[in-house]
Amino acid sequence: MTDTDALLEELTLDEKLALVHGAVDPAGVATGYLPGNDRVGIPPLTMVDGPLGVRALGKQATAFPASSALAATWKPALAREFGGALGRESAAHGQDVLLGPGVNIVRVPHGGRNFEYYSEDPQLTADLAVGTIEGIQSEDVAATVKHYVANNHETDRYEVSADVEERALRELYLPAFRAAVEEADAHAVMTAYNRVNGTHMGEHERLISDVLKDEWGFDGVVVSDWWGTRSTIEAATAGLDIEMPGIEPEAFMPDDPEEMEVNDDGDSSLPPVPDVPAYFGEPLREAVESGAVDEAVIDEKVARVLRVMDEIGRFNDDAREGALETTAHRKLAREIAIEGTVLLENDDALPLSSDDSLAVIGPNADAAKLGGGGSSEVTPATDTSPLEGLADRADVSFERGVDPITESSFFGDDEQTLEEDTNIDAAVSAARDADCAVVIAQDDATEFTDRPDIELPGEQNDLIEAVADVAERTVVVLRTSGPVEMPWLESVDAVLETWYPGQADGEALAAVLFGDADPGGRLPVTFGQSAEQYPTADEAAFPGVDGVAAYDEGVFVGYRYFDEQGLEPLFPFGHGLSYATIDYEDATVTETDDGIDVTVDLTNSSDRAGTEVVQVYANKAAAPVPTPDCELVGFDSVSLEAGEAATVTIALEREDFAYYDEDDRWTVADGTNRVFVGRSSRDILEAVDVSV
Ligand code: NOJ
Repeated sequence: MTDTDALLEELTLDEKLALVHGAVDPAGVATGYLPGNDRVGIPPLTMVDGPLGVRALGKQATAFPASSALAATWKPALAREFGGALGRESAAHGQDVLLGPGVNIVRVPHGGRNFEYYSEDPQLTADLAVGTIEGIQSEDVAATVKHYVANNHETDRYEVSADVEERALRELYLPAFRAAVEEADAHAVMTAYNRVNGTHMGEHERLISDVLKDEWGFDGVVVSDWWGTRSTIEAATAGLDIEMPGIEPEAFMPDDPEEMEVNDDGDSSLPPVPDVPAYFGEPLREAVESGAVDEAVIDEKVARVLRVMDEIGRFNDDAREGALETTAHRKLAREIAIEGTVLLENDDALPLSSDDSLAVIGPNADAAKLGGGGSSEVTPATDTSPLEGLADRADVSFERGVDPITESSFFGDDEQTLEEDTNIDAAVSAARDADCAVVIAQDDATEFTDRPDIELPGEQNDLIEAVADVAERTVVVLRTSGPVEMPWLESVDAVLETWYPGQADGEALAAVLFGDADPGGRLPVTFGQSAEQYPTADEAAFPGVDGVAAYDEGVFVGYRYFDEQGLEPLFPFGHGLSYATIDYEDATVTETDDGIDVTVDLTNSSDRAGTEVVQVYANKAAAPVPTPDCELVGFDSVSLEAGEAATVTIALEREDFAYYDEDDRWTVADGTNRVFVGRSSRDILEAVDVSV
């Protein structure tokens, strides 16, 4: 360990201020850059986007599946492997801090960045976040958990106030951040752009200093979102440690200087960012000199920066090597895509046989779906489209059917080049001639805006209907950021959700469709029948009125809301089918020192390997406040060979039955609660009363 206190003592005020204010990366690669200090021997600190792969400017990296796909694996151990790969790729690009994972709760079904987030459930989100962060940091790269907090949609994101009660903050929106800090020791937290209960998150003293730093013991750095700092004195004293990026948007994207202009309307090639001045740097020096901000406040920020540098070995001589786009990383991208694929419906149509002739149909089926638009965009060296993946395995014909769906991109090098050679009749006749029609459909989601609703864009619904009318079998493959309406559901034979599968798109799809692999995924979000079913259908709830989004649904978000309202979703949270048949035996509950163990016996009674995701939900019936019918408290994804049996034990702690009471305390009420074991939030196989 380096004596960072001694280093701090050597610094002048100006030198300290330079360590908490972003600057231009001389290499032009980083997303954020702190210059370090040559005089006393502090190296620079580089930060890079993002959650789906490393977005070093002008560089390539492995394009992993979207966070929603990772979430659909329900495998924290896989998240850890993924994090390790992200860390190695960051290091290979000389980057010290990765700006991810994003752990905001999916509240609005058409939120523009849902693909960068995990789930509507805090437990699933927290467990995946912990895995990812541990993986990243195991490679001596700091993870940045973002966006703290209640950044749940994009519309008016720089100003909107999420007006949310304390209980919902504590039970839904904060747990993943807390787990990131307390369990995974995340080295950085990024504040959200939005306000929470009226105060911009970059200057939210209670949530930054009191909750994050004091209550949870966070000793890393709090970094602003880019151009998300809104004040000097308030932000500095509230606990914000680093203002990013500290430079003008033009300097941030040096590749294309002529086309750059700061704007709020999203029309130019420059992302619509707030037109704000720098608040740290010179203004902060003035604030210190005038006595408005104590120099000790700056010292504490610098101490945090130095501590993080020390934690990730920046003061060591032996350089991290990292690894870039290795075979192992490519395989991992494929594995996550497979394990995250959710088989929503299967009327004996899948798996396909290699003798089947296929009509591959879809406006973008000849392009891999790498991700959504915005700061998470990654440029891989190689990718496989669904068409390529399937053509490798079977006799295929291809028809686009309808016009390509535009893919929003802010950082991509290439204009979309798919031809508009569309002909729905040609698609119909290809479908008629094949043993099976595979229709690849997708949405378009991006940072900066929300999807208008959850309908498939363009004429894709018409295309699916027309194909399903004539095809012997129709398999629909969705590459979406979240739920979409499926007006054709009754007419098709199988539906898969592959999210944004990344560079391994086609390979992973072929592996699942031909049954080399079981689709291991389960829904990390409820698939409603339409956006109207969600609490956010009310304008006051989303996008808000007069700058306020009222989170009046409280803790009833996602499946908690559907259950409370007695609504029938299209597919419930936790749903997903296996090709195998896996049976449950009786569940038993035994008391342990600090909670209970839930044990269930599984048997794969089929002749093929398969995956079962055992899900344990609690109903906190004893609590004297309205509680959801069920809340995920534990889960385990188990793979079983044909005929194999296994005993699965899921340990619950007393805290799993706690609610956040009106006196600001986590409380476990006396009395009887219930535990459910099931395959989804709506497919409960066992219910047991427990008192803890
Ligand atoms: C804004 C995004 O909200 C954040 O997630 C990202 O890391 C920064 N821009 C830097 O690109």
